[in-house]
Amino acid sequence: MAHFGEPLFEGKNMETTCRHVAIIMDGNGRWAKKQDKQRTFGHLSGSENVRNIALAANKLNIKVLTLYAFSTENWKRPMEEVDYLMKLPEVFFNRFMDELMREGIKIMAIGDLSKFPPNTQRVLLNAIDRTKNNSGLILNFAMNYGGRDEIIRAVNAIANEVRLGTLDIIDETVFESFLMTSGLPPVDLMIRTSGEQRISNFLLWQLAYSELVFTDVSWPDFKEDDLVQALKVFENRSRRFGGL
Ligand code: FPP
Repeated sequence: MAHFGEPLFEGKNMETTCRHVAIIMDGNGRWAKKQDKQRTFGHLSGSENVRNIALAANKLNIKVLTLYAFSTENWKRPMEEVDYLMKLPEVFFNRFMDELMREGIKIMAIGDLSKFPPNTQRVLLNAIDRTKNNSGLILNFAMNYGGRDEIIRAVNAIANEVRLGTLDIIDETVFESFLMTSGLPPVDLMIRTSGEQRISNFLLWQLAYSELVFTDVSWPDFKEDDLVQALKVFENRSRRFGGL
């Protein structure tokens, strides 16, 4: 098993070519139920693990870590669970903000935050503002995010500009500039924990050429060694982007 500070791959040093990792943090509920605990306990442990994996990704020099924290479909969950998930950002930033600042981590968010309770919005916007000048890992929370929703918003914004006469040619670069991830490097690696092998409306456009790694490990148990293993898989795959 590779450890930080040691060469990650034989013959290479620690540097990974992976700049942007995206994770579907699945399995919190099942992980908690297996221990006869409430699903919310799983989400709390999952949020503690966000801290662990963000610190590990920062050490590994990954530029962006995008985490699927709340999807546009998660509103369908029982009200108590949704309420709990709304409160987690405050618990998380109260506990870890000083450490995130020390590590130079910069918080970002994609998704429609306006549907969240005012306090949740305030906490997130405050974290984004406080960390805006940090130059380490970008920790990007996908919150009330859905890939289809993002694409439809981009299409509407483009249609509006075309109507106004401020845009005429729409190519891939122009389209991408209307997405919520505009300005971030392409997603190199997408990891989904806890056994399911689906995309679940996550980063639909952005995953077009990403390497996909699915692991049976539940999100609360997903440790830095698991991240290193996924990066190894990434490094060993030959990316051809449709060429030969
Ligand atoms: C999916 O697991 C997980 C979620 C819907 C929520 C993920 C959120 C976190 C890990 C915390 C985010 C932290 C912050 C600071 C915003 P599931 O509950 O669907 O698992 P299951 O498939 O076992 O039921």
